[in-house]
Amino acid sequence: MRDRIVIKWGGGLITDKSLMCTPNLEVLNDLASTVAACVENGFEVILVHGAGSFGHLRSKKWRLNEGYIEGMKRPDDSDCTSQLDAVHRVRSEMLELNQHVCEALESCQLIPHVHPPHTWATNTGPDFSGSLEGFESNSAGTVHVTFGDVVSVEGEKQFGILSGDDLVARIAVELPRVQRLVFAIGGVDGLLRVPPKEATDEDLIERWSPDVAFEGIHESEIDVTGGIGLKASRGALVASHDVDVIMVNGGIRERVMAAMLGEPVRGTIITKKQ
Ligand code: IPE
Repeated sequence: MRDRIVIKWGGGLITDKSLMCTPNLEVLNDLASTVAACVENGFEVILVHGAGSFGHLRSKKWRLNEGYIEGMKRPDDSDCTSQLDAVHRVRSEMLELNQHVCEALESCQLIPHVHPPHTWATNTGPDFSGSLEGFESNSAGTVHVTFGDVVSVEGEKQFGILSGDDLVARIAVELPRVQRLVFAIGGVDGLLRVPPKEATDEDLIERWSPDVAFEGIHESEIDVTGGIGLKASRGALVASHDVDVIMVNGGIRERVMAAMLGEPVRGTIITKKQ
């Protein structure tokens, strides 16, 4: 029985966040090669990816994170007709991004097994519902893949955004033999003591627990989920179940590789509340 590594590829890392539905294919190919190397090293990898410009912009415009809003007016420059239309569009755009992810994996001879959350998960947040059974089987070369998505929500809300950060948290805690959870993020080396624009190399927090303050940009004009703060808090939740958790700069292949294999690397190790 092989040990498992769960990795989250942040949406800001694998897409150009300012341009609607634009993947970063170079980064995707680099990241896929790290998954292949881990599989060659005898690990099972479960991959969860974010949305970046494939999910956040349209979801934000149509306030999909707030659920159904009776009588919501069509935003000025929207090409959707209603919130429900936007729900379908975001789901299909997420499948489109996932297709790029799968192509990158396949080019490394891996076999992706995709589980789109809107087909098996309901409700949002760390206690969302849905069986993780589908992620358990594994034959050599298969990589289970899922992603942040618009899912059904019980009651008046009808739908909401399930973040990949909530998916990794449940997967890392509930599946057996998970050794490590790695967050590969875009543009920063980990959690920082000062805002990213002002940070020097010394401002990286190398070991973080929820009682330590940090500064992270949360682009609330763009993001419908919780930005780096959500990753930190879900990371701490996972760490409290004795799974190693680390956040690294996903734009640097060697760091992602080392983090996945558990080797010392520049990044932020996340621990439970002290
Ligand atoms: C967001 O998922 C999903 C949608 C907006 C549809 P994540 O929360 O995992 O995405 P990133 O990593 O912040 O882009």
